[in-house]
Amino acid sequence: EGFNVKVAVIGTGYVGLVTGTCLAYSGHSVVCVDSSAEKIAILSSGGLPLWEQGLDELLNETIKLGRICFTTDMKSAVQSSDVLIVCVGTPWGPGGEADLDPLWSVVRQVALYCKQGPFLIIKSTVPVGTSDEIEQWLHTVQTKPSIEVIHNPEFLRQGAAVYDFFHPDRIVAGCRTIQARSVITELYKDIAAHVYFCDRRSSELIKYASNAFLAMKISFINMMADFSEHTGARIDVVAAGMGMDRRIGKSFLQAGIGYGGSCFPKDLQALLSMGHKWNCSLPLLESTVSINAQRPQHLVDKLLHALGTLKAKRIALLGLTFKPMTDDLREATSLAVSRLCLQHGADLHAYDPFVRDYPIAEVVLHRDMYEAIDSADAIVILTEWEQLHDLDWQLVSQKLRTRVVIDGRNMFDWDDMQHVADTCHITYISMGRPVIYASTAMKSPDPV
Ligand code: UDX
Repeated sequence: EGFNVKVAVIGTGYVGLVTGTCLAYSGHSVVCVDSSAEKIAILSSGGLPLWEQGLDELLNETIKLGRICFTTDMKSAVQSSDVLIVCVGTPWGPGGEADLDPLWSVVRQVALYCKQGPFLIIKSTVPVGTSDEIEQWLHTVQTKPSIEVIHNPEFLRQGAAVYDFFHPDRIVAGCRTIQARSVITELYKDIAAHVYFCDRRSSELIKYASNAFLAMKISFINMMADFSEHTGARIDVVAAGMGMDRRIGKSFLQAGIGYGGSCFPKDLQALLSMGHKWNCSLPLLESTVSINAQRPQHLVDKLLHALGTLKAKRIALLGLTFKPMTDDLREATSLAVSRLCLQHGADLHAYDPFVRDYPIAEVVLHRDMYEAIDSADAIVILTEWEQLHDLDWQLVSQKLRTRVVIDGRNMFDWDDMQHVADTCHITYISMGRPVIYASTAMKSPDPV
């Protein structure tokens, strides 16, 4: 069983909330702190400032059990806890580096308020050396038994974060002492994963290197997708064949319009700028980033090729978020695609099951998928939402002005689409797979 730990989770973004709630569910007593009174008010009244699969239910349950509470009062939270877990964001700095201001502001408050020497766990993604630096600084300002800093990265996927918390492939903990190790062991006592203890610098790099490697897999398969287009191979078939080799693994080989989200783009940039700082070149990562940056243009080129021009063409964008099962639009590829289409004079209409507010005003949002599609010259799929699997192709075909579908995520089975193209006269264009032309005389789309 083990004993329960008094934990303060600092920062109630998606990592902080998932971590706090899941730790409370494991039996620990958790106080979540945030400087935003607005967020704390929402949480205190039983609401959630963000959507994450399964979090709502779990939070309600832990609130009922009295194991979690919310406050803006750093002082009392710090003083009543044995373990402090920092989950503040490390956003893009002006030069691409991680902005550590929010983190240091927390560290200064911890130094100010903390009486005894608790453990300070940094969950935020931080440049290599940050945890060492923070501990050194704390030692210079503190006379009492000193705080030990632990680096304990998270590998939570948005939309699957609660599941990932309880079923991680590994728990990484960079720490110095036996005491720190036992705190980590207590904290995660209910999770049946290997705890990999290591030094803090390595732990910090494990997080960046893991994200960079996954992003590299995506850019690799996208590079091969482009090559498949030249050579007539099919990238989904290629990826499946590669993935059968356990050394390669089948995940993160889904070709498409590239990666987005709050982690990969930011963390790769931060890693590159760390490289500059240490005067060390990271060429694989530079290629990863530049391949990804080309994806929106590549997709728009397909659209231009199919329609001849985008001027005054009505385009239906299906899916806007950076991936399904999230409402997050941060670094979503749809943003870059929309901007490019607008530059070409397109008239953009969109459907996304979760998005009610879009930062680009020219994009007209529709609650109904078929309304977005109505009279469109092309459909462009940008997020592989489950809902899109139910598309009624007959109806789609009736609604479209020009029957062009561009599947930026390869979400539809290529063989199935042969049939759709035949029966519904739709030209189906995907990424790294041969174009399936509509039957009848529609080899090239109708001039309008
Ligand atoms: C990622 C990491 O997976 C997670 O471990 C880390 O903690 C945070 O960053 P997340 O950003 O939630 O998680 O999304 P993820 O599911 O990894 O997808 C990232 C992006 O890559 C999405 O835009 C997705 O569409 C894209 N992607 C993913 C591909 O284009 N192809 C793939 O094969 C996999």
